[in-house]
Amino acid sequence: MDHFLYRDGALYAEDVPVAEIASAVGTPFYVYSTATLLRHFHLFDDALAGMDHLVCYAMKAASNQAILKTLAEVGAGMDVVSQGEYLRARAAGVAGDKIVFSGVGKTHEEIRTALTGGVRQFNVESEPEMDAINEVALELGVVAPITVRVNPDVDAKTHAKIATGKSENKFGIPISRASAVYAYAASLSGLDVIGIDCHIGSQLTELGPFRLAYQKVAELTEMLRSEGHDIRRLDLGGGLGIPYERSNEAPPLPSEYGQLIKETLGHLNVEIEIEPGRLIAGNAGLMVSKVIYVKSGEGRDFLILDGAMNDLIRPAMYEAHHDIVPVTEAEPGIEQRPYDIVGPVCESGDTFAKQRMMPPLQAGDLVAFRSAGAYGAVMASEYNSRPLIPEVLVHGDQFAVIRARPSFDEMINRDTIPSWL
Ligand code: LLP
Repeated sequence: MDHFLYRDGALYAEDVPVAEIASAVGTPFYVYSTATLLRHFHLFDDALAGMDHLVCYAMKAASNQAILKTLAEVGAGMDVVSQGEYLRARAAGVAGDKIVFSGVGKTHEEIRTALTGGVRQFNVESEPEMDAINEVALELGVVAPITVRVNPDVDAKTHAKIATGKSENKFGIPISRASAVYAYAASLSGLDVIGIDCHIGSQLTELGPFRLAYQKVAELTEMLRSEGHDIRRLDLGGGLGIPYERSNEAPPLPSEYGQLIKETLGHLNVEIEIEPGRLIAGNAGLMVSKVIYVKSGEGRDFLILDGAMNDLIRPAMYEAHHDIVPVTEAEPGIEQRPYDIVGPVCESGDTFAKQRMMPPLQAGDLVAFRSAGAYGAVMASEYNSRPLIPEVLVHGDQFAVIRARPSFDEMINRDTIPSWL
């Protein structure tokens, strides 16, 4: 459920007409709903009620300061994967002890920043990384809390580019080597080995793969405990999918996911962390774009939008589906027709949808891409020298620009000319 609904034929973001935002900020733009962000956070938080837990928002999904602050204010922790994300989380007021540092290639500098500013734990993905964290911790005279990310070799049944839990993926250490790796970690005096981490992929639409992975984590917890490790925290990653296609998808609910966690891990008396990104931000955001031209091609009509693959890359990169809806609702009974919906970038890959049934549209009409809140703005680029598009946050009947569109001069003047030119 989200808060982007039609009222009298006009699409609203909470209590604000989307067309009003378009007039104020120009198109294309991203708009997020505070109520939806909060609703999704609370769904997870409630799903784990009764267990000692922390929901650490995977801020790679959408990392605008206003979004982070909205979630931090209701108690969210953050899952970060770079120094930039760490500093963004801190700047949004998130305490160090609520920040989990994930990622397969943390540098010494990143480790130093997090250990100096405070960190809940590092999720460590290899022995060389363990050595690096140990080294920096000893240098700073602190002890670094860590979990080891294990790769349970489970098929997440999702798009290959976002599956992470198979043995061929670069992530984590094989669960079969866990015993040796934990023994090694325990031998390093700069580390405090507090738990296990596991993340098998993103946009999972079934609970089965989670069940398999969490059962393995449960077994591993018992084994490592029997080997003398004080396993007291399990980070279960993110990955629960969202319905991108409202007509035919119904991924499991956070409550069902929470129930599964309780069933598989509840008996272990551990603290649970989860790192959802997409489910919190995905359906809390739209990308709104304007039709520039309707072009009749050979046997097909193209809707050429002012938004493009540089603004929302998911369709080009993952063959992802986004529902695209008119901002002014079609009259009931109006016949839909197929369009290829494309952007102006000079690549055939700049195609959002092929032969998508839409009500008839014309130049100047606004359309909204649903489910664009996660991995939308954060993956945007200025390819074709198209300035990054603005982000807007709605709260009830108010809205605010939370990242302005850079001017062309700002974009151009980021470059510098060397002295010999
Ligand atoms: N934790 C870790 C360690 C992760 O690698 C990820 C996502 C998450 C949590 C959050 O997963 P989520 O709950 O959002 O599924 N750009 C892609 C998605 C990449 C996901 C990468 N890792 C897309 O647009 O579909």
